[in-house]
Amino acid sequence: MTHENHWASKRVRAMPESVFLLMDRAKSAARAAGKRVIDLSIGASDLPVPGELIAELESAARDPATWGYCLKSCTGRFLEEAASWYERRFGLALDPESQALSLIGSQEGLAHLLLAVADPGEAVLIPEVAYPSYWGAAALAGLEAVPVPLGEDLLPRLEAVPAEKLQRARLLVLNYPNNPTAAVADYAFWERVLAFAERHDLLVVHDNPYIDMVYEGEAVSPLVLEGALERTIELFSFSKSFHMGGFRLGFALGNAEAIAALEAAKAPVDFNQYLGIQRMGIAALRLPADRVLRDVQVFRGRRDALVEAMQSAGVPVSRPKASMYLWLKLPNGMDDVKFALSAVEHAGVALAPGRGFGPGGKGYVRFALVQPPEVLAEAGRRIAQLLD
Ligand SMILES: Cc1ncc(COP(=O)(O)O)c(C=O)c1O
Repeated sequence: MTHENHWASKRVRAMPESVFLLMDRAKSAARAAGKRVIDLSIGASDLPVPGELIAELESAARDPATWGYCLKSCTGRFLEEAASWYERRFGLALDPESQALSLIGSQEGLAHLLLAVADPGEAVLIPEVAYPSYWGAAALAGLEAVPVPLGEDLLPRLEAVPAEKLQRARLLVLNYPNNPTAAVADYAFWERVLAFAERHDLLVVHDNPYIDMVYEGEAVSPLVLEGALERTIELFSFSKSFHMGGFRLGFALGNAEAIAALEAAKAPVDFNQYLGIQRMGIAALRLPADRVLRDVQVFRGRRDALVEAMQSAGVPVSRPKASMYLWLKLPNGMDDVKFALSAVEHAGVALAPGRGFGPGGKGYVRFALVQPPEVLAEAGRRIAQLLD
């Protein structure tokens, strides 16, 4: 549609068409025909926002001091809390004034970051399977998105990027635990990434919204590595750990120049998130760690229910170690979009077709663990039957 739109800019026309709209139409059609659809196609947490955070917002809404525009100084307390949280967790002290910035979600931060640090014609390296918004954000910024092939371990093979692309590349965007593959990265991986980035003078962007969604091992933060602060920026979100997706809150930490450029790019666009929502964020970062862990256990139970149902039905899936997703390679070169449409129509299960995540996603589908365990198990059995 966009491609025929007289008023759309070249950059908007260059944005990939969304297969998720196709899925949305298929779901609506199935529902209109009276079918109940188990929707596992969208990765939005369905758990409740902690009551304390809602109470914080209620009281903030009654406080006139929160009603006005919120310039940088009004984000100060939130950024101090973000820096303290990071220091408690990773032992590195950051300056909330110059090395932190408040975001209206990690997605907003990433899109503006690309505009802030690269010029049209330059390139951004993105793993060939990635969160869809990275591709759209690259197009919007007039950048060439260079897909980086994944290895067997689902981590990017940086050495496979052609030299000619590297010459124009300005930054590398990564995300672990990963959406959609559930891949996790350790510090040894990040050491290699930083060495590569230094060799090619790249800014490393780590989009880290699943930092708490870990079932085995622990999520890491590359910012703590030696030299990382010279060329790394990390984006954090309240959407997954605290189920606050609709409230739109996140923050960036890292290299002061990249933060300053991002702040400058955001200035003509927004006045920061509503102060009452920032107060929710402060309260969230102060919650005892076991509150977040309790919810992570819920997702672990869901993961187990889905994996076990599919394994019992003869589908060879392995247990994701982290994130809210199961990434399944379809057998016999099946087409992911056709399979996902047929799953809605014949199995009453909505999944995300892999190609929506980039060129490497063809032939895969993603399950989001956003239903109770018994519903996920039922969905798993139905999909297994359809694969049969
Ligand atoms: C990798 C990744 N980045 C960013 C986001 C969006 O985060 P936010 O709600 O903070 O914009 C998501 C949401 O699913 C995601 O999976």
